[in-house]
Amino acid sequence: MTVSFTLNGRARTYAGDPRSSLLEVLRETYRLTGAKDVCGEGFCGACMVQIDGMPTTACLVPVGTLEGADVRSIEGVGTEEQLNPVQQASIDFDVVQCGMCFPGMVMTLTHFLQDNPQPTREDVKSALTGNICRCTGYERIIDAVMSLSLAPKPLTEAQP
Ligand code: FES
Ligand code: FES
Repeated sequence: MTVSFTLNGRARTYAGDPRSSLLEVLRETYRLTGAKDVCGEGFCGACMVQIDGMPTTACLVPVGTLEGADVRSIEGVGTEEQLNPVQQASIDFDVVQCGMCFPGMVMTLTHFLQDNPQPTREDVKSALTGNICRCTGYERIIDAVMSLSLAPKPLTEAQP
């Protein structure tokens, strides 16, 4: 079986087991290792990607369901040369510790800020309920997001 979809703006056709998770296919077929395999059960958010613009846990999505879908992974929202604003704010606020949760956080927060560019701190906390960080107390993450809401910048997408 083949499945054709767009990955970070580039057309892809996957030929393999349609039951494989999108997370497995991203990491093992396309060597995009930004999405992390932590719980494998849709619980932690470390594997978060965007499918048709919506944050989605890639570990729970069989790749066979993605015919025609638009998939964006962390590799598609920022580059070393052109960081996504959430990534830049995270550096500015010294947010990241071990980093396992962080690609997923960026995917969630990028979508969140597009929908809600001037959130309250409570809004940000609610947005992060599906992203678990074992290292931080979340306060600096929220500070970083609030800095973007006070001085909104366009949320750019990296070119593939
Ligand atoms: S690895 Fe997918 S939600 Fe945890
Ligand atoms: S920085 Fe370590 S889990 Fe979040």
